[in-house]
Amino acid sequence: MVVKNVCCIGAGYVGGPTCSVIAWKCPDIQVHVVDVSQVRIKQWNSDKLPIYEPGLDEVVKECLGRNLFFSNDIDQAVREADLIFISVNTPSKTYGIGKGRAADLKHIELCARKIAEVAEGHKIVVEKSTVPVRAAESIAHILSANTKPGVSFQVLSNPEFLAEGTAIENLLNPDRVLIGGEESAEGEAAVGELTWIYHHWVPQHNIITLSTWSSELSKLASNAFLAQRVSSINAISALCEATGADVSQVAHAVGKDSRIGSKFLQASVGFGGSCFQKDLLNLVYIAECLNLHEVATYWQQVTDMNEYQRTRFAKRIIGCLFNTVTDKTLAVFGFAFKKNTGDTRESPARFVCSHLLEEGARLNIYDPKVERQQIESDLTSTRATNDPERIEKLIHIYTDPYQAVIDAHAIVILTEWDEFKTYDYKKMLSVMKKPAFLFDGRKIIDHQAVMNLGYHTETIGKRFTRNTLLRSSGADL
Ligand code: NAD
Ligand code: UDX
Repeated sequence: MVVKNVCCIGAGYVGGPTCSVIAWKCPDIQVHVVDVSQVRIKQWNSDKLPIYEPGLDEVVKECLGRNLFFSNDIDQAVREADLIFISVNTPSKTYGIGKGRAADLKHIELCARKIAEVAEGHKIVVEKSTVPVRAAESIAHILSANTKPGVSFQVLSNPEFLAEGTAIENLLNPDRVLIGGEESAEGEAAVGELTWIYHHWVPQHNIITLSTWSSELSKLASNAFLAQRVSSINAISALCEATGADVSQVAHAVGKDSRIGSKFLQASVGFGGSCFQKDLLNLVYIAECLNLHEVATYWQQVTDMNEYQRTRFAKRIIGCLFNTVTDKTLAVFGFAFKKNTGDTRESPARFVCSHLLEEGARLNIYDPKVERQQIESDLTSTRATNDPERIEKLIHIYTDPYQAVIDAHAIVILTEWDEFKTYDYKKMLSVMKKPAFLFDGRKIIDHQAVMNLGYHTETIGKRFTRNTLLRSSGADL
């Protein structure tokens, strides 16, 4: 079999960009991306795509209607496909056994049942979603238990490693592509088909074939290692603030060791995004279920440290503002979980803002890409607060950062958008309340320059004055 027709179930942050790149690089393959959400599919077929991702518009524009199609007709796309990616969401469970930690596989199971129901002939089913180890076994079990005469399946694991904001670049030049399959002639043939698709643009040495279980676990392990680096440097940032060391200098020095490397050592207000937290918790849950309590405790610390970092930053803001933010106005720059995305899932900004709102602060929020409704619903949802009406009155969303700072007591930077580096902070200072504070949770602006302008400046992993350092450590001045 040579794959001519690909279907992807799930038109989200992974399914959309991944399949757009496959369509772009493989003009000989028809790619159908399907989803239960009519709104999402309508947006993919419009001029305003449902997600913001640099370079994505251009790729979609070139392929849409040529060999790339977005639709809600899941049955037809599955029936016609030779190879089906499952790219649906696998959030942490919000109910029942494993609540808050185990991955919720209900969407994956629904896909498997749908495929079993409508498939004809031979299908390769590819797990693209991030799943617990041995999830492929459950998918294969559901498929085989429902197989009709003349229908057969092979299940592969092919986890996705793209990061939001750089998805197209990551998809075009992946460090590696993992393809996990069954050790049998049929399994190897299926691995060969998927390898053939990637060969259209990925060099052979970047394609790793491995066992299905290793492939599934490698994805969880990779995210855990990345998150662990961020938590490690954030732990060091707390030490820096307490001792007078500078976390940027420490990160540079540590990262120069070629065994450690310099990437992912940027201290911050904490990591966010839809993956790190849920995948770490999933790993912890798996370890616990296997009675590997020490392993579970080890990885749990990575998310505990993240929570500590976000809370520490929020408390520091309140502490610096004379221990109260009640009725004070804070201009918040950035709400997305990182730059170059409009995604706010698990954004540290949500957490810090919620903390400040609970203390009665008025927040003037500006983000270049996050929609007003998204910010409002993130901060007023029952998950964020038990008093949505009060919180609603405290938040104001701005489309102009210069308007957001009028009469503000402080600026709080929570996302590392490049444009924040080039603002006219002198002009902003002139319309703010005095003393004016600037809290840089991402370490992106020139701190000396804003201090020279007159801002009282605070950032992660560095103290600017000796007195502040001594005061915070309780020493005699
Ligand atoms: P998402 O929520 O953006 O998209 C998932 C889509 O699947 C939604 O549009 C939803 O409507 C659709 N869906 C759910 N059940 C369906 C069903 N039964 N039939 C048809 N459509 C259905 O999620 P995402 O961010 O794209 O993540 C998808 C998976 O990829 C997750 O397992 C995630 O952990 C993993 N992943 C995400 C990223 C990332 O950066 N977002 C990176 C790597 C891996
Ligand atoms: C991550 C993984 O990088 C990717 O491989 C996987 O497929 C999905 O999860 P993503 O969450 O999109 O990608 O973004 P990433 O760049 O990893 O950043 C995650 C969070 O960590 C962001 O909030 C970011 O600001 C933060 N971060 C990252 C730091 O605070 N410091 C760093 O040095 C790096």
